Amino acid sequence: MRYATAMRRILLSLVALAACRGSEPTPRYLTVGTDVAAAAHLVTAETHDGVAIVEVAADTDLEAISAIAHDQFHRCGGFMVHDSLAEAHAALAPPVVRATPDYTLDRADVVRAVLPTLDRAQLLGTIRELSAMPTRYYRSEGGAAASTWLAARWQRLAAGRPDVTVELVDQGWPQKSVVLTIPGRGRASEVVVLGGHLDSINLRYPEAPGADDDASGVATVTEVVRVLLASDYHPERTIQVMAYAAEEVGLRGSQEIVRDYKKRNVDVVGVLQLDMTNYQGSDKDIWLMKDFTNAAQNTFVTNLIDTYVGATWGLDACGYGCSDHASWYRGGFPASMPFEARFRDANKKIHSRADTLETSGDNADHAIKFARLGTAFAIELGKGGVGATIAASPPVSSGGSHRWWLALAGLGAVGLMLRRRRVS
Ligand code: BES
Ligand code: ZN
Repeated sequence: MRYATAMRRILLSLVALAACRGSEPTPRYLTVGTDVAAAAHLVTAETHDGVAIVEVAADTDLEAISAIAHDQFHRCGGFMVHDSLAEAHAALAPPVVRATPDYTLDRADVVRAVLPTLDRAQLLGTIRELSAMPTRYYRSEGGAAASTWLAARWQRLAAGRPDVTVELVDQGWPQKSVVLTIPGRGRASEVVVLGGHLDSINLRYPEAPGADDDASGVATVTEVVRVLLASDYHPERTIQVMAYAAEEVGLRGSQEIVRDYKKRNVDVVGVLQLDMTNYQGSDKDIWLMKDFTNAAQNTFVTNLIDTYVGATWGLDACGYGCSDHASWYRGGFPASMPFEARFRDANKKIHSRADTLETSGDNADHAIKFARLGTAFAIELGKGGVGATIAASPPVSSGGSHRWWLALAGLGAVGLMLRRRRVS
């Protein structure tokens, strides 16, 4: 087994063990893999696509089932606990997906005005700075320092744009997730998310440069932010750019954000996850992961690549929820994950001291394609325009002053929605 794969397995097992301790005392039903159900000699009531629903007595030893799932099948707990059969059925149903927007490509003038300002030297510089930090592990001082460094960097990019906010989201660890918001004008309650993960990990040594995993993704979205704001871009929908904490330990930072957004009914219309963008391992440039993503949005993304990026693309799958797009997917939000290579050809040095810029060729030639894609995604889904072109953009609602009231209400909604501390 490849070292990275083995490490991932070990890590997932550790996360599993940690997460497996909090089970309910008096369950009625479990949903569990049919293989685990058989190994644990559980009596199966129904099966659905390899998942069994089993009824259990109150005194069933859940820890023992968890141990079997963990030791024999490398799974977290391996089951979910439900109070009723209806609840068990609900857990097996695919997530209720938000109605996808009509993916029009009608901002070519705006996209083509902004794209030439992307700068691979800037992108490279950001990867260099992030990967020069000894570690960005979510529970370390380095992880915390990475958050404050990135928030300050994004804040500088937002100088001259008082409408743009940068927040540090405290999720209970030294490292914070970082969220930048460009409020929409007209459709502010609809949110477009671009993200990558800020943390890095190395289970063997303290050093975790994470140049590809995922300084590359964070640097890519940072470059998108830089050009959007430098171009005086104003979206109709609200755009949020996120650097998630604690991805490497079970997608925990993004999961927490998704849980919060669901609770507050935030209308996220689309999510783009950039995790590993700078190692060209396959024949084609951009690989869209088909699993844990939204097919309609993926087609929109391939159209963006064909129209604006000038790169080749293919479809592949991780085979498991390999990054933060899975948190959004599970929450019912349309997500896409354009990736640097076929899964099997991805950078083998991740999670080690060798995940350095040198391993990715010491340039940002691959990542810049993802910056083009991210910029096109933000503009074609966020709509709106830049400086002089804003007036020429198709209106989203009729009636002049009416529109301004809507914009103001939208800004208020975003303010309420976030209710978080602004970084000064
Ligand atoms: N960037 C990786 C995911 C990845 C690795 C995708 C190799 C494709 C090829 C991510 O940071 C990661 O390490 N994810 C974990 C799973 C997560 C749930 C902890 C993994 O892949 O083991
Ligand atoms: Zn990783």
